[in-house]
Amino acid sequence: MSSVKDSVLTRLSENKDKFTSGQTLANELSVTRCAIWKAVCGLRKDGYVIESVSNKGYKLHESDILSEAEIKSHLKTSIPPKIIVFDSIDSTNSKAKEYAANGHKETTLIIANSQTNGKGRMGRTFYSPKDTGLYMSLLYTTSQPLENAVSVTTAASVAVALAIEEMTGSPAQIKWVNDVYMDGKKVCGILTEAMLGLDGDGENIIIVGIGINITTKTFPEELADKAASTGTLSGSRCMLAAKIIDRLIYFIENPSEKTHMGEYRKRSLLDGKKVRLICAGNEFFGTAMGISDDGGLIFLPDGEENCKVIRSGEVSVRFNN
Ligand code: BTN
Repeated sequence: MSSVKDSVLTRLSENKDKFTSGQTLANELSVTRCAIWKAVCGLRKDGYVIESVSNKGYKLHESDILSEAEIKSHLKTSIPPKIIVFDSIDSTNSKAKEYAANGHKETTLIIANSQTNGKGRMGRTFYSPKDTGLYMSLLYTTSQPLENAVSVTTAASVAVALAIEEMTGSPAQIKWVNDVYMDGKKVCGILTEAMLGLDGDGENIIIVGIGINITTKTFPEELADKAASTGTLSGSRCMLAAKIIDRLIYFIENPSEKTHMGEYRKRSLLDGKKVRLICAGNEFFGTAMGISDDGGLIFLPDGEENCKVIRSGEVSVRFNN
């Protein structure tokens, strides 16, 4: 995207629902009105709906195109990430890892309109059709030990649940460790990958990959009875992305507050349920008793008196007992 086009989109996004005159834009960007007009034509070609009225100027209408400018216009955090948008990509997590391996350390959001090889946990894939979901990865450099990645995952699921609730008006639940559910079906999966820093400066990299089904109607057969979509949002996908990132950055930057744990527990799907746990290739049966302060599952194995705190694994509810 040319820089004038980018800047025009940013200004119009910041000034949504109001007209901005061509002259004001030209003055602000130190270019001619003709350059503004060309940028507007280019944006329209990209799919943006921009109304123009003589003597008033230009007004950007709501659209659901992913753009750096629109995400930025919704972000409230004082430490905004660098944003990179792709139309189609194999996996935003893979791209974030590639960036990290090439020495990029600044907080970066990689977001795509579709993924051809979206990655899920346990080697699974994440179905990522175009236009109907949000697929994004936040690359974050931290001096915290990598074991804290589980807390970041916990924080991410809360950030997603809160943002979805705000933009759909419906409640969301969280299934340990990081799946977000609505009405008993999974609408969001989170894949956190941690990389040991290569520079020996004690800094490590955490990549939080978030996939949300928003308006996807049909899923591959194997997912059909488990996956669902959030349904129409009260705003755009860019707005949803920004609301999630704002909260996630806040939670990561303020780890001692643990404000998100209360929100997590309020939405925890497993509490008190008989569950089957797969951990390091072994199967265990027991009861999910709650969530520890650092995001572990408090698990009481059947026939035992003492709980264990489980840091990673896969849990399913035993509905028939
Ligand atoms: C899971 O449910 O098993 C986790 C799914 C995580 C999917 C997201 S989509 C964006 C990011 N890029 C990926 O390749 N995966 C994550």
